[in-house]
Amino acid sequence: MIYQAVIFDLDGVICSTDQYHYLAWKEIADDEGIYFDEQINNRLRGVSRMESLEIILEKASRTYAEDEKSALAEKKNQIYRKLLERMTPAELSEDVAGTLKELKKRGVKIAIGSSSKNTPVILKQIGLSGSFDAVSDGNNITKSKPDPEVFLTAAGMLKEDAKSCLVVEDAQAGVAAAKAGGFDCAGIGEASEDAAITYSIRKISDLLEILK
Ligand code: BG6
Ligand code: MG
Repeated sequence: MIYQAVIFDLDGVICSTDQYHYLAWKEIADDEGIYFDEQINNRLRGVSRMESLEIILEKASRTYAEDEKSALAEKKNQIYRKLLERMTPAELSEDVAGTLKELKKRGVKIAIGSSSKNTPVILKQIGLSGSFDAVSDGNNITKSKPDPEVFLTAAGMLKEDAKSCLVVEDAQAGVAAAKAGGFDCAGIGEASEDAAITYSIRKISDLLEILK
């Protein structure tokens, strides 16, 4: 087997928090009278909170001062955190839970590589705190995807080089980050048809075939 480790994106890969991100941003956009739809939302996947706001503000009819932007990002996060409170371990799919367990059994290291500063809260809500060998997230990086920093940091924590790790992503920005860092990448969901991926998967347990 060529891979010693798998680095998972969190939102949209391990769990479906992307719908909560959408609802929270939609509320902000509606309050501000800014046009926002699913297509614009797709561009926010994998991108940091402030950069996501910048994308939303492209449709605004006026410019926003820096302090207004900070306030909007903070407000979005409060709405999002309220939605996260409702998450329970029941939201962790059997497919994901079983795959993580099997990878561990096979001696494959597992890590998180996410742009989200809410990663620790989400892992706690779905019952996965302490389950990963490394967690690299929005709290320990300076550049968000498509920069490879988050994945390179995860690989460093695992004491592996990029070529020994497989990244799993659902977002274009994440696939680009994996590629920029020299990682092979399995794309799921929207990313399963990205030209830059190494493997296209339909469900997380498809990884078990790749990592045979
Ligand atoms: C990524 C999401 O995982 O985290 C993005 O795909 C989100 O949509 C980013 O903007 C930052 O998340 P947070 O929780 O720090 O606002
Ligand atoms: Mg994602």
